[in-house]
Amino acid sequence: MRIGVLTSGGDCPGLNAVIRSVVHRAVVDHGDEVIGFHDGWKGLLEADYRKLDLDAVGGILARGGTILGSSRVQPAHLRDGVERARGHVADLGLDAIIPIGGEGTLKAANLLAQAGLPIVGVPKTIDNDIASTDVTFGFDTAVGVATEALDRLKTTAESHQRVMVVEVMGRHTGWIALHSGMAAGAHAIVVPERPFDIEQLTEIVGERFSAGKRFAIVVVAEGAKPKPGSMDFEEGGTDMYGHERFAGIGNRLAVELEHRLGKEARPVILGHVQRGGTPTAYDRVLATRFGWHAVEAAHRGEFGMLTALRGTDIVMVPLSEATSTLKTVPAERYDEAQTVL
Ligand code: F6P
Repeated sequence: MRIGVLTSGGDCPGLNAVIRSVVHRAVVDHGDEVIGFHDGWKGLLEADYRKLDLDAVGGILARGGTILGSSRVQPAHLRDGVERARGHVADLGLDAIIPIGGEGTLKAANLLAQAGLPIVGVPKTIDNDIASTDVTFGFDTAVGVATEALDRLKTTAESHQRVMVVEVMGRHTGWIALHSGMAAGAHAIVVPERPFDIEQLTEIVGERFSAGKRFAIVVVAEGAKPKPGSMDFEEGGTDMYGHERFAGIGNRLAVELEHRLGKEARPVILGHVQRGGTPTAYDRVLATRFGWHAVEAAHRGEFGMLTALRGTDIVMVPLSEATSTLKTVPAERYDEAQTVL
């Protein structure tokens, strides 16, 4: 069998572990040939690739980023994108393509699968918002980075009697904010799923200081927004691919809380540091399992499917199902967080 693998969309700790796993399972166990496309779908659309053998994936298990590179280019961005992809798959004699990506990548994967291409998807995103899998690799690493930052910020906040407003990633969902906020014992967690009331948030933080505490930590997901009419807030517009560009809710909230409370507040935008560096052991294991199962699915001819974690098992689910809805933070999780959201 000849398999093509690519990584597309925002990078994520664990991508290299999937690539390594695909190569190990396919080349060593099945005697397959594996090629890796450069920079996501762009590599497939331009037939820009290299052969991946055991040497090529040596020592990459613990490395962050992706040895193949990534981009946000998608077949749908080109008028002849699907036909170009089809042509290159035929020319290169590919029996399977394994795209590893998030929401946008998996939508593109579904489009190509519907067009008859032999696709087996692997989900990735630090945001953990892909509906059909219980967890995506990268999330555990991102939560760990954010939690460590929150722990560190507590000591400096306490020294200066400050409010720290820590903005974490999470475009549409607040999973990183929720988990890091719970793990670090944040005093308020603000997520996109639940537009916040600035009066209520000010009250919660203010009550802490009134009770004699010397600091407060507020975690806010980058995609969070105030309730309409609750606070002035300008939306950030979109980037060249039509993705939402955030205006900086962390900065905005810190200014607002400082003025309302008469307490110093500082914004900390964690940004891409949450996506960089070595994956946790959990993410390496999940990524490795996804890679293994993607190769197996390809050998069974199970195309148009996606690897997913359900409980402790890896299962295959239709790509169409995976891309239809996002996994948002359910209401009961707010209560469990024992904080105000
Ligand atoms: O989807 C993953 C993610 O890290 C989001 O949390 C974030 O909004 C986005 O990617 C940032 O993407 P970029 O790398 O294009 O700035």
